[in-house]
Amino acid sequence: MSTVRHFLSLMDMTPDELRSLIRRASELKDLRQRGVLYEPLKNRVLGMIFEKASTRTRLSFEAGMIQLGGQAIFLSPRDTQLGRGEPIADSARVMSRMLDAVMIRTFAHATLKNFAANSQVPVINGLSDDLHPCQLLADMQTFHEHRGSIQGKTVAWIGDGNNMCNTFAQAAEQFDFQLKIACPEGFEPNAFYLQQAKGRVTITRDPLEAVAGAHLVSTDVWASMGQEDEAEARIAKFKGFQVTPAMMDKADPSAVFLHCLPAHRGEEVSVDMMNDPRSVVFDQAENRLHAQKALLEMLVEHAYPA
Ligand code: CP
Ligand code: NVA
Repeated sequence: MSTVRHFLSLMDMTPDELRSLIRRASELKDLRQRGVLYEPLKNRVLGMIFEKASTRTRLSFEAGMIQLGGQAIFLSPRDTQLGRGEPIADSARVMSRMLDAVMIRTFAHATLKNFAANSQVPVINGLSDDLHPCQLLADMQTFHEHRGSIQGKTVAWIGDGNNMCNTFAQAAEQFDFQLKIACPEGFEPNAFYLQQAKGRVTITRDPLEAVAGAHLVSTDVWASMGQEDEAEARIAKFKGFQVTPAMMDKADPSAVFLHCLPAHRGEEVSVDMMNDPRSVVFDQAENRLHAQKALLEMLVEHAYPA
């Protein structure tokens, strides 16, 4: 087997690799739409560890593996020894001897790094408290399919400086766009990821300032998984940060709206914004499937050179 490559963050790939992944995702989407069967991962098995809930991530990885000719196994900490304290490093050593890749959705980003450091097979970040890189692959694919290259464009992030916002900062660097973040004081993204964006990011308290002239506007829930206790207090703190059609009217006339979903209508996004023609959130959700199939093809198929 050649050197193992992990996908814990967008920084694990070069800008060229990311661009070709997005292109490949659209090709795989086209194959699927034409009903062409393409099964390069026959008999390959993906393990999926979920320490948090999921609809899209689980379904897109599981369906994606099946469509590529392989299988996916869902592993819940409730039913495995992970939930009873077996060390991450031991779990990684054992699981990676039986699987061809492992996807992990967890809390601390350090858990992913620890698992990857002890894994013989590629490890994929299916969301951590810090980052959600698979989502950004789908987001970039969606923008590209609707509006072409994002290079040199402006993206507005409205709301919480959370895992999605951190990942947008990395995307700003890797896909070469400007990112304008509007967040309340105390809800800024992680300084470490901001610094990776090398000056492409600005932060304001005013959502209208952030959306002015933007080509892509995005937001996410105000309380992420693990922050359920803060949900009510956050609603008060994020007042004025709801994305609405009136706010979108300040963006570039070509602007599209993205939301990784699930959405809380009436909180971070209005009902009419979700239904607005500028909203492409369901194309975005579908693209999780195609983008991750391109990722699996790259990481798993190419781990076994012909
Ligand atoms: N966007 C996203 O990751 O959705 P799930 O939590 O349903 O996987
Ligand atoms: N920021 C959200 C994203 C869910 C896909 C969370 O972490 O819960």
